[in-house]
Amino acid sequence: LKEIRVLQIGLGAIGLEIAKLASKKRSLKMVGASDLMKHVGEDLGAVLGSGELGIKVIPDYRKALKEVKPDLVLHATSSYLQDIYEQIVDCVKEGANVISTCEELSYPFYKHPDLAKNLDHLAKKNRVRILGTGINPGFLMDTLVILLTAVCQEVKGIVVERVIDASHRRQAFQRKIGAALTEEEFVSKLEGKEISGHVGLEESIAMISDALGWKLQRIEAEQPKAIIASKQVSSPYYTIPAGRVAGLQQTARGYVDGEARVTLLFKAYIGAEDEYDRIHIIGIPEVNQIIRPAVQGDRATAAVVVNSIWPLLKTKPGLRTMSDLQTLSCK
Ligand SMILES: NC(=O)c1ccc[n+]([C@@H]2O[C@H](COP(=O)([O-])OP(=O)(O)OC[C@H]3O[C@@H](n4cnc5c(N)ncnc54)[C@H](OP(=O)(O)O)[C@@H]3O)[C@@H](O)[C@H]2O)c1
Repeated sequence: LKEIRVLQIGLGAIGLEIAKLASKKRSLKMVGASDLMKHVGEDLGAVLGSGELGIKVIPDYRKALKEVKPDLVLHATSSYLQDIYEQIVDCVKEGANVISTCEELSYPFYKHPDLAKNLDHLAKKNRVRILGTGINPGFLMDTLVILLTAVCQEVKGIVVERVIDASHRRQAFQRKIGAALTEEEFVSKLEGKEISGHVGLEESIAMISDALGWKLQRIEAEQPKAIIASKQVSSPYYTIPAGRVAGLQQTARGYVDGEARVTLLFKAYIGAEDEYDRIHIIGIPEVNQIIRPAVQGDRATAAVVVNSIWPLLKTKPGLRTMSDLQTLSCK
């Protein structure tokens, strides 16, 4: 394809960032945009801060699909595969390739094997590709880890840590990690699924294990734990007094041969002073990779999504994961 016709579905902070980046690429042409409420009726170009594009944001993505017949849908509406399954099916049936930031789509074979099988079948039938990706899951705690194991003769275990200061993430992110809640509210909102915490550690573990050919017995994902502010901290959206929730930490472990061979630790809170991404591969040779400060996730998610377009289109039709793509680079 010389020029790839792109429809953006979802114009929250992430969808906007993706559409902004995509609209700057010469081989991509924005042809449509949909969101349930945000920016409906506005011109996409005006929303992105570029010149008028003559594209009205409409609430019905199905109508957009039929009207503009995109080659590719960039999709950023929800974290859960069950919530977006029909959306992806509709895109694929209209002959569009799909890249989505849905965390559970990054490696759906572990939690949702039946949905994954259906999507793969449908994508093959319609000769298009589906990919779930972003910064995490999608890159820092899985794809990059897998790539780094290429220098090892043997891998015995993997420990990955991502520690981020959530104050420079989007508001939706700060909300989902429980910023500014009391500890009691944090616990009850998590139980009531009003906040999700980070979604994706299980997908990353399953993706790593698959790439290394490890037979994963089970994944143990701990309940997210609140990180309580020890002094007042703030972000553009919240001022958090000492004693309130600043964010959370989550741990998940993948068991192979009865041992926790992959451990992922995720900490996101407002006011984190030392931000880093660390990948420790216990093997021959040992690998200890530290990125300090941690990669800014919202910008990076848009980059990973857009930079995946060309490698994805080179793969065979079907449901793909980041492991199926040739090495990514900034395009
Ligand atoms: N993999 C990764 O690394 C990664 C990184 C960042 C984000 N994410 C995920 O990507 C998703 C988007 O993030 P965000 O912060 O931008 O979320 P957000 O603020 O909730 O935005 C989602 C947008 O999608 C719209 N939407 C929902 N259903 C729709 C539908 N059927 N048709 C059209 N639009 C629809 C919503 O509409 P209204 O609100 O207007 O009703 C909202 O504007 C989230 O699930 C997030 O967790 C993943």
